[in-house]
Amino acid sequence: MALYSEKVMDHFRNPRNVGVIEDANGIGEVGNAKCGDIMKMYLKITDEVIEDVKFETFGCGSAIASSSMATELIKGKPLSEAMKLTNQAVAEALDGLPDYKMHCSVLAEEAIKSAIDDYNSKK
Ligand code: FES
Repeated sequence: MALYSEKVMDHFRNPRNVGVIEDANGIGEVGNAKCGDIMKMYLKITDEVIEDVKFETFGCGSAIASSSMATELIKGKPLSEAMKLTNQAVAEALDGLPDYKMHCSVLAEEAIKSAIDDYNSKK
């Protein structure tokens, strides 16, 4: 079996929603102390719904694929639903990640939660 699923490779090669939202009203940045990878998530929230989301990831391929998939999973969703997104759900949507790469998907979950916290703290 290939180490990475087709979906992981697709989201790594053609990541969705890469970039910056200039007028984002929720921004979260998290890092993994062990590998030094960093993920930044920008949210544009209107009426408690994620209208737009973009990310910048300075990290490994699995972290890039995880951020890309995570943005796809929360775009257009209410905040209450986005808050419940787990790294397992991101990994499942990617048709799995190797065990030792699961921590990369944790960055995506944490970056989204951190951006939502930022939004809530500014309300
Ligand atoms: Fe650092 Fe993947 S190895 S996030």
